[in-house]
Amino acid sequence: MPLLINGGRIVTATDDFTADIYCENETISRIEPGIDAASLPKNTETIDASGKLVFPGFIDPHVHIHLPFMGTNAADDYESASKAALAGGTTSVIEMICPGPDDEPAAALEEWRGHAEGKAAVDYTYHMAVVRFDALAQKQLRRIAQDEGVASFKVFLAYKGALDISDGDLFSLLGMAKELGVIVTAHCENAEAIDAMQKKLIAEGKTGPEWHEPSRPTIVEAEGVRKLTAFAELTGAHVYIVHTSCEEAVRAAVDARLRGVNAWIEAVAPHLTLDRSFAEKPDFEGAKFVMSPPLRERRHVDALWSALRSGEIATIGTDHAPFSFKGQKDMGRPPSSDFTKIPNGVPSIQERVALVYTHGVVAGRIDLHTFVDACSTQAARIFGMYPRKGTIAVGADADIVVWDPTWRGTLSKATSHSKVDYCAYEGWQVQGRASAVTVRGEVQARDGEFVGTIGRGRFLARKPTHF
Ligand code: URP
Ligand code: ZN
Ligand code: ZN
Repeated sequence: MPLLINGGRIVTATDDFTADIYCENETISRIEPGIDAASLPKNTETIDASGKLVFPGFIDPHVHIHLPFMGTNAADDYESASKAALAGGTTSVIEMICPGPDDEPAAALEEWRGHAEGKAAVDYTYHMAVVRFDALAQKQLRRIAQDEGVASFKVFLAYKGALDISDGDLFSLLGMAKELGVIVTAHCENAEAIDAMQKKLIAEGKTGPEWHEPSRPTIVEAEGVRKLTAFAELTGAHVYIVHTSCEEAVRAAVDARLRGVNAWIEAVAPHLTLDRSFAEKPDFEGAKFVMSPPLRERRHVDALWSALRSGEIATIGTDHAPFSFKGQKDMGRPPSSDFTKIPNGVPSIQERVALVYTHGVVAGRIDLHTFVDACSTQAARIFGMYPRKGTIAVGADADIVVWDPTWRGTLSKATSHSKVDYCAYEGWQVQGRASAVTVRGEVQARDGEFVGTIGRGRFLARKPTHF
């Protein structure tokens, strides 16, 4: 059905103006002031956007939905994650495919696609994690990047024995990525240092969630960034540092950028809003806030916002890694009493946009263009989806968020669509809400409720662009 969005203030990464938007055949076909509704097909649906902001659909470049990890499986599926994403204004996601060290990449891609097909209501694509790099894996990874539309890899320098990659394989992979034009996204923390420090802390009886951060201090993350960017400099590969949590890691990445390394920096909603005191909550509540890299001291939260404002940080994702408190996070509770057994992750796929709007725009830390750029446009550009995604322009997919900037409310498990049994932001006040969210011209969410069609989400095939 054709769609007319009337009289809203359209804000993109670069522009700010008032006009009507007409969408047909899943794309935006006209952007003009005063489109005459009488001249449009009779079945045109109209959304009155007067007094509202109109943004391009938000893109979350870092989510986990199907995630076998730390002896359990993430709690969401594509249906619950799509509903949560759309309710919050996110219309496209990039999920990490995280196979085990013995799994073949091709089989993993098939498995992950099987979880999304018929269940997604958002559009989606993948970063392909590289956890093995033997001849067979290399052959399959080449095909995945060149023929299967998955034009970004993921490496973990952390998680010893589970997901981590050796220095030798990392160096070779970056060489291959350069040749293929594929960007390599990376979790930068030193697996060996963390393993040794975790063992030491546990042996000393320091077993609660509050010890998670001291087991992987900022220097461990900065070292990971330095290694990755040094290898990128030597190979010419383009790299993207995921969930950067601290000033030291940002500085290491910015140093590399100043040397000419093609490196982009991602921040995620939890690191921009929460600090390490949340992981120190009593009665094991802190486990809800165990993620990696960990929540840091408050000064790092401020440093991340400054780096966003200056453009040093390109994107804001979530690292939505949904593990429930009961039966999952509590795996590290007595009798095991071991913070290393707490599945890592803080879910926020639904909350991200409202959190960034409230703590970024309303708080005066970033302007509206930076907000749109970091939450949508940059991800589309870096990951080969622009201008189809990430902007409002004639010819772009009609993924549009009509945003009520005056709405005030609270975040809560009661209004969350994720299957996780808690909301990390329970009771937090936010300002601004997506009053209508469209995916390719169809309304999928209204006022925080999913009103769309499960199965409508489409796989976004991407071509390598990082030569
Ligand atoms: O704590 C986190 N980040 N969990 C998910 C896995 C990852 O490292 O992205
Ligand atoms: Zn990670
Ligand atoms: Zn992640």
